[in-house]
Amino acid sequence: MTLKFVVLNPKGGSGKTTIATNLAAYYAAQGLLPVLQDLDAQASSTRWLAKRTERMPRIHGISPFNVPAKVTRTFAMRIPPDADRIIVDTPAALNKHQLADYTSKADRIIVPVLPSDIDIQAVTRCIADLLLNGKIQRNENRLAVVANRVKRNTVMFKSLMRFLDSLKIPVIAVLRDSQAYIKAAESGVGLHEMKGTRFKVDQAHWVSLIDWLETGVVPVGEIAWAEVAKSKDAKVASGATEEDDEAANEPIEVTVPADDVSAAAAPTDKTTAPLRLFNISAFIKRKS
Ligand SMILES: Nc1ncnc2c1ncn2[C@@H]1O[C@H](COP(=O)(O)OP(=O)(O)OP(=O)(O)O)[C@@H](O)[C@H]1O
Ligand SMILES: [Mg+2]
Repeated sequence: MTLKFVVLNPKGGSGKTTIATNLAAYYAAQGLLPVLQDLDAQASSTRWLAKRTERMPRIHGISPFNVPAKVTRTFAMRIPPDADRIIVDTPAALNKHQLADYTSKADRIIVPVLPSDIDIQAVTRCIADLLLNGKIQRNENRLAVVANRVKRNTVMFKSLMRFLDSLKIPVIAVLRDSQAYIKAAESGVGLHEMKGTRFKVDQAHWVSLIDWLETGVVPVGEIAWAEVAKSKDAKVASGATEEDDEAANEPIEVTVPADDVSAAAAPTDKTTAPLRLFNISAFIKRKS
């Protein structure tokens, strides 16, 4: 059965392309055929895909903005019959009608959110629009949030988790701020294709997301990101310490085949001001 996953958040830079490309690479590494549908005119996913070599597991790319010459648009946009997973990367600044269009046939919708006040305001609006205009029911288990670029033990992280809890939309993964994602983006590889114990902690954070995508199982209680990082297995596998966040931002050499690896930009620090919490029900009532 072909499953379709849509990654969206009208807020720019929240991690849509990061999640879409890493998911595609994960499925390709599992021997499945993923389709990476890039609906963004910026074409970041398409550029990432172009960096992959023939020797790497195959991902079928589709982009309405990059139709090859000599090929009809219909042909370029078709989903191969043997596709196993369709992963849709969407642009920023989607309007509520596009939100409804893009999600109507999705088996799962992933909304990445960053720990910042602006991102929280934006995601509140986005989720309200999905529930109202996208006609998504909470009990369908089609919609979930991924907290992205998180720094553990910060006020922002704690506030973000409290806010996400108040949304009553499951948080199915918490991804830390890590150089591994920046390197993967630059090199056309996926996190799960990166070899070495230092990537084990980041890779472990995807287990609950992939479980939810595949089986619909929502992690119990608060997402145990801190627990994952601290867990004995992850520690043994990765050699990570409880204070491994700094290590996540050490420079990385990618060892998989890559043609175009340039220097990684250091991620910017987020402010640590406390977040204002929003009441999603009141917000939805106001909008309807
Ligand atoms: N967990 C992470 N740790 C470190 N860097 C990250 C992480 N997630 C994303 N980034 C980086 O943040 C930047 C923005 O991420 P990304 O391009 O995935 O966002 P986006 O939502 O697709 O943006 P846009 O709305 O412009 O399409 C990229 O440089 C990416 O490599
Ligand atoms: Mg993007």
